[in-house]
Parts: sequence; structure tokens; C-alpha cells
Amino acid sequence: MSEKKAAAGLQGIVAGQSAISTVGVGGIGLNYRGYDINDLAYKCSFEEVTYLLLKGNLPTQQQLDELKTFIWQKRQIPCKLKQILETLPKESHPMDIMRTVASIVGILEPETKPGQEYEICIRLISLFGPALLYWYHYSNSGIKINENTGKDSIAENFLKLYHLKSEIDPLVIRTFDVSLILYAEHDFAASTFAARVTVSTLSDFYSGITTAIGTLRGPLHGGANEAAMQYLEPLKSISQADQFLNSRYQSKQLIMGFGHRVYKKEDPRSPIIKDFSLQLSKTTNGDPTLLAVSQHIEKRMIEEKKIYPNLDFYSASAYKQCGVPTPMFTAIFVISRMTGWGGHLIEQRSNNKLMRPVSEYTGPAKKQFVPIEMRNKANL
Ligand code: CMC
Repeated sequence: MSEKKAAAGLQGIVAGQSAISTVGVGGIGLNYRGYDINDLAYKCSFEEVTYLLLKGNLPTQQQLDELKTFIWQKRQIPCKLKQILETLPKESHPMDIMRTVASIVGILEPETKPGQEYEICIRLISLFGPALLYWYHYSNSGIKINENTGKDSIAENFLKLYHLKSEIDPLVIRTFDVSLILYAEHDFAASTFAARVTVSTLSDFYSGITTAIGTLRGPLHGGANEAAMQYLEPLKSISQADQFLNSRYQSKQLIMGFGHRVYKKEDPRSPIIKDFSLQLSKTTNGDPTLLAVSQHIEKRMIEEKKIYPNLDFYSASAYKQCGVPTPMFTAIFVISRMTGWGGHLIEQRSNNKLMRPVSEYTGPAKKQFVPIEMRNKANL
């Protein structure tokens, strides 16, 4: 029997090296490629962060302009993909659409030679939103949207295509953009690790991304923003919030949007998205009740359970106030994390070693083989 002791959920295991981000390691907080998350969120665009994560450095103005043009060119939905999207049921979950889009693009535009990673990343980052919204409008109202809104940012393009409007409130665009920056990268999160395992077998890039999307979906990971909104939505007063919390405490159920494997105190991304969610709540389309309820739940969870909100908690109210439907929340996370996944897959390939850990065996001791004609319940 193995002497090795397993760490449940790989907690605390250093599973590899990475130069992409620090998640509170060594007390230096969350940094992407050495830059503090606060600087990136408040002073950068998602496109700058995309360049940073994929190329390793912040872009110059010229490099950023080139990237924006590239994103605009890569936004075009292939005809064959449109035809497939038109056949998908409107009841599909947006995460199924995202996983399917990654898979179909992997067939239509396969990876055929080394060095295509950056182009594939930009293709998927640019295409995910338009493809999701093409399916959404077609399946709900038969409208075939024109995905090309010019050289708009990823955030503005998504919001214009969802709302089918040519003008979007700048605070809504900025909030969406900041959320993309905050969701972009988080070290060996479950989906990133899963994607790295996939490409470590020398599988193709698209297979790595479909693996990541499937892993992100679960409510213990990316699905938490959708799950948080599902319980927040019906709570219309502080007393309803109290009833909800008390009953969850009693039944020992998880409160989605709280807790983190690495951050046992504050998630550094949470105050940033909370700031934007609060700003939105003070506008004409804002939802001050949603914010009051959210803040009350946060206060009680910290005071009574010492468990802090993670990024997903205030992202839920932020997205709601951007007018985005709850089932799309985790799909937006996909658009953003595509940058981090991309950076990690490029890094994995640059120094690849098959990922193949071992388990701590807990099965039966060695047994005597019994031929089938002699087997009975007593001797198996
Ligand atoms: N609600 C209630 N209790 C909680 C929560 C929560 N959200 N999170 C942790 N706890 C409790 C947990 O039950 C355990 O209690 P006890 O010691 O009595 O068994 C204690 O806190 C320690 O938790 P843990 O299970 O050891 O923590 P973990 O590192 O395994 O889990 C987590 C981290 C994120 C899976 C967990 O906090 C959780 O399930 N949170 C809710 C889902 C969520 O919001 N996920 C998003 C994570 S951040 C963004 C992302 O990765 O996508």
C-alpha cells in the first residue's frame, strides 16, 4: 500500500510553476505579471490586460491599437457556426453554448501548426460574446443579429449586442470591463489547472479550452456568480435576507459567492467590483434594494461566520444592474478567463511535462483470483 498521504482537493499542493499571477502568495496580493490588480482594474482596459496576460507585457499604444483591430476582425461569426447556433434550443444553458462554440471553432478553424496560440485566443475572446448573443436573439425572437459593432471593446460590443442598442451608459460599460479584468486570471484555479492537464498530453488548444469551460461551470467555481444571483433575486428586504441566511445556517448549506480556497480573509477583487456595483445602484437603472440586501448578507457572514465574499458575490449584483440575464453570468466569466487560460496553455507548452499524479490507494488488499465457475458471494 502507498505511503503517500493525499491532500483533499489538492489543498496546499504546489502543482507546478507559473510566471503569470500571484494569488496572495508571499503576502503580495493579487498581481498579473507583476502588476497589482487595483492598478489594472482602475487604470487599464480589458484589452490591455488581454495583451498583458498573453504576451507578458503591457502594450504600447500602437500595440493596443493593433490588438483592437485584430479583435474587430476576429469578431465575425462563420456562416457554418451561425447555422449550428440556429439549431440549438432556446432552453440551452449559455455555458453549453460556450463549450459548443469552442468545440465547433476547433473543427472549422483547427490548430494545424505550432505558434497559432495567440491567434486562437484572440479569435475565441472576440467570438464568444457575439456567438452567444447570436444564439440568444435567434432562439428567443428569430432575430439574426449583425455581430459587428465596429472597433468597440469586448465589453461595449457585448452590451450593445445583448441590448440591441447603439448607445450604452458609460458606467455600465466600465463596470462590465472591470469585471472582465477581475475575472481574467487566477493562477491554478480548477478550470486553468484542468486545461493545463489537457494540453500536457499534447492535445490541441481547443480541447484545453473546452475542458476549462466544463470545469468553470460548477457552482464551487465560476458558476457561483449565477448561483449567488439565484438566491439574491427573490430577497426584497433585510428581514427576507435574514430568513434566508438563518435557514441556510440551519441546514448547513453553502452560501454561494462566499469563501475561497486561497483567500481566507478578503478576496482583493471583491471591494473593486463592490465599488462599481454600489456606483450602479445609485443610478436611475440601479437596484439599491439588491445592494442593501447584499451588504447585509456580507456583514452577517463576516461577523457570524468569518467568511468573506469572493469576486462572484458582488459580480452578481453588478451584472444584474448591467441588465444581463442571470444564466449568462458564468458565460461572461468564460470570455474573460479565456485570457488567463490562454496565457497558461502557452506557458504549459513552453516547458511541457505530462501531468500525471498518483493517488493514495484505499482499495482492498491483494486478493486470490477466483475462476468464474467457483465464484459465490462468500469467496469474492
Ligand atoms: N458558505 C458556508 N460555509 C462555507 C462557505 C460558504 N460559502 N465556504 C466555506 N464554508 C465553510 C465550510 O463549510 C467549512 O466549514 P467546516 O470547517 O465547518 O466544515 C469551512 O468554511 C472551510 O471551508 P472549506 O470547505 O475548507 O473551504 P475550501 O477551501 O474547500 O472551499 C470554496 C472553498 C470556494 C469551495 C468554498 O468556500 C465554497 O464552496 N464557497 C461557495 C462557492 C463559491 O462561492 N465559489 C466561488 C469561489 S471564488 C471564484 C472562483 O473560483 O470561481
